[in-house]
Amino acid sequence: MNAIFISHQFWRNLIFSLLLAPLILIAETTKPTQKMMGDIWLPAHQGALKGVVDLNVRDAVLEEVLGGLTYPWAFEFINDDEILITQLSGQLFRYQLSSKRLIEVSGLPEIAGGFPQVGLLDVEIHPEFAKNQRVYFSYVQLDPVTQQFFRTAVATAVLRDKQLLNVRNILESEHFSWSPSNFGGALEFDDKGYLYISIGNRSEDWNAAIKGRLEGKILRLHDDGSVPKDNPFVGVEGIDDRIYALGVRNPQGLHFDQLSGRMFESEHGPMGGDEVNIIEAGKNYGWPEITYGRDYTMDPIGSGTHKKGLQQPIFYYLPSLAISPITIYRGDMFKEWEGDLLVGALKGKLISKLDLDGDRIRSEHDILKQLEARIRDIKVASDGSIYILTQTGSLYRLSRKAKKDTPEPPANTALIYELICSGCHASGAYEAPRLSVFSDWQKTLEQPLEKTYQNTINGYGGMPERGLCGMCTDEFLKLLVDEMLDKVQQLDQPSE
Ligand code: HEC
Repeated sequence: MNAIFISHQFWRNLIFSLLLAPLILIAETTKPTQKMMGDIWLPAHQGALKGVVDLNVRDAVLEEVLGGLTYPWAFEFINDDEILITQLSGQLFRYQLSSKRLIEVSGLPEIAGGFPQVGLLDVEIHPEFAKNQRVYFSYVQLDPVTQQFFRTAVATAVLRDKQLLNVRNILESEHFSWSPSNFGGALEFDDKGYLYISIGNRSEDWNAAIKGRLEGKILRLHDDGSVPKDNPFVGVEGIDDRIYALGVRNPQGLHFDQLSGRMFESEHGPMGGDEVNIIEAGKNYGWPEITYGRDYTMDPIGSGTHKKGLQQPIFYYLPSLAISPITIYRGDMFKEWEGDLLVGALKGKLISKLDLDGDRIRSEHDILKQLEARIRDIKVASDGSIYILTQTGSLYRLSRKAKKDTPEPPANTALIYELICSGCHASGAYEAPRLSVFSDWQKTLEQPLEKTYQNTINGYGGMPERGLCGMCTDEFLKLLVDEMLDKVQQLDQPSE
């Protein structure tokens, strides 16, 4: 009886371990960073940061700030502490970095789904979001008649807490077509308040060359969806006046660089020939007439790589990495990368860092390849750290500690007050104004703050120079004064 029980248990355990072993293995291999982050002893050059260390950046840290998303597509900062994240499945989230609070935003329109590129795509905020809370998002619409054709659409709405209000479409790329792919959908504002929208060729190559169609184009609109009068094709016969540039294949990334005033674009080529372009008014970027790629049948496409009147990319990838998001590094944290382009790859599962010098790329180097994740979006935060969204459902932050030659001790004003200043200011010794008596400070509060600072630093009357704190810097003394005056102002003021 007993023996049978044991062998039963044995077989059950064996079957369990056989079933679970591959699963455990997958879990191990798909989460290389967690291992990386937990184990400090692991040399950086063996982990996810190898590419970064190869660039001689040895103090970078990679942390997962959010996990567990399902097929996220894009994100956008709405302030220093909060971001909006889209999920292909048609969900929009609002995430607060400091509190780690993730809330779903309601009020999205009906969004098509069911295919790996069909759903909610990019999200962008109005340049004056802080004032008007206006957001924009691109998504795929399903043809209500056939129930199987699709088109790219862009909507705008006002974000109130966790709700979208007054949702309104500002663009629907006219006709529905069969292909569930190449929607484009990148959204980006420039510094003059124009909204740029990329529309993919919908996997019909000739679309990009047909001027009456929006597919395979970069569009430019006012923030309300109207057409700017100075768009390059306004008044030109046979071309849609929303078009700003043409001849693009599947542009998945747009990024406007405030400093140089240029609009960068990244697009999927065919087999070979992913491109990074600088988008200019009225220019034709050549698809499908010129390309560095070939058809998936290995047949050549168009007439070659160059043609007069057609723009050249500033960089192209052979073989293709399926590049998707693009941004430019501007920040203090990774000073050595200032002005470099960061291009995320899906198939390539890496971030390609392009050393941009004027209009030319001097070198290409990949970073975060060891994450082994399709890179969906990249943004540089205001503090200079880099946020990376992966299709595996995580948001990462690449950062490093600010460099200081001699670390300063934390400014402990309360301690210094207790040790030095309170000797006179608690008791009123030497007729020092007492911190507990509001009226002692009347004169001080009436004078300009700068004078109070100077009196404290230089000393005056019975107040000794620096209040006897020889090691206190001017800045520190000012902090002390601020805090003392704060306390005084919190006292009950005598009513007259
Ligand atoms: C030896 C006693 C003494 C110590 C120690 C002292 N103070 Fe004073 N402090 C005074 C006296 C006395 C006055 C009033 C001087 C007067 O009105 O002639 C004063 C005035 C001030 C004022 C008012 C300045 C103004 O312009 O009205 C500030 C602020 C102040 N002290 C800050 C400090 C701080 C900060 C420290 C500690 C770093 C400190 N004191 C340490 C004696 C002291």
